[in-house]
Amino acid sequence: MKIIGISGSLRKASYNTSLLRALVSLQPQGMEIEPIRLNGIPVYDGDDEKATGKPAAILEIDQKIRAADGVVIVTPEYNFSIPGGLKNALDWISRGKSPLKWKRMGVMGASDGPIGTARSQYHLRQTLQAHEAIIMPRPEIFVGNASKKFDAEGKLTDDDTAQRLQKWLKAFADWVEKKP
Ligand SMILES: Cc1cc2nc3c(=O)[nH]c(=O)nc-3n(C[C@H](O)[C@H](O)[C@H](O)COP(=O)(O)O)c2cc1C
Repeated sequence: MKIIGISGSLRKASYNTSLLRALVSLQPQGMEIEPIRLNGIPVYDGDDEKATGKPAAILEIDQKIRAADGVVIVTPEYNFSIPGGLKNALDWISRGKSPLKWKRMGVMGASDGPIGTARSQYHLRQTLQAHEAIIMPRPEIFVGNASKKFDAEGKLTDDDTAQRLQKWLKAFADWVEKKP
């Protein structure tokens, strides 16, 4: 089962990219998560789209998503919503026929605040509705107080979170395989 993992954060020491790496390290047998980052994507401009179409970086992401069985987005919360960079990438991806249409998806996120990106994840779910994605409703993963759960190298050190991620991965595998 091929899964594309998208981090909504561009920074190297990102908790969310670390969370995505933790997912990769815990992936069950038969699942292969390929992490991708959204660095270097131009801001959406309808004139640029008309002139040259989707940027190469977006065409590459589109192709990877089309070839995958599922997609997980791991997002920070910026000002109670999703980061502009993630929204921008999703806006580009949505042009033409979105490769996320009917794609089995999961969302999660990490923040140093107490509620671990809950508001952001619900805005992300709303945006993904426009793509007609099929998003796993639960279990949900809100990693709060992230600075206490990852070490200086970005390794997940919190056992409770690791166990929750394992359960989530199992549920997500069933979700992608449409096994109720
Ligand atoms: C512009 C901006 C807005 C932010 N707004 C929120 C917020 O609304 N809620 C929250 O929990 N954290 C907020 N934060 C803090 C982020 O959760 C924190 O920077 C986090 O480390 C970002 O994720 P990352 O580590 O994956 O890059 C904000 C950070 C930035 C830069």
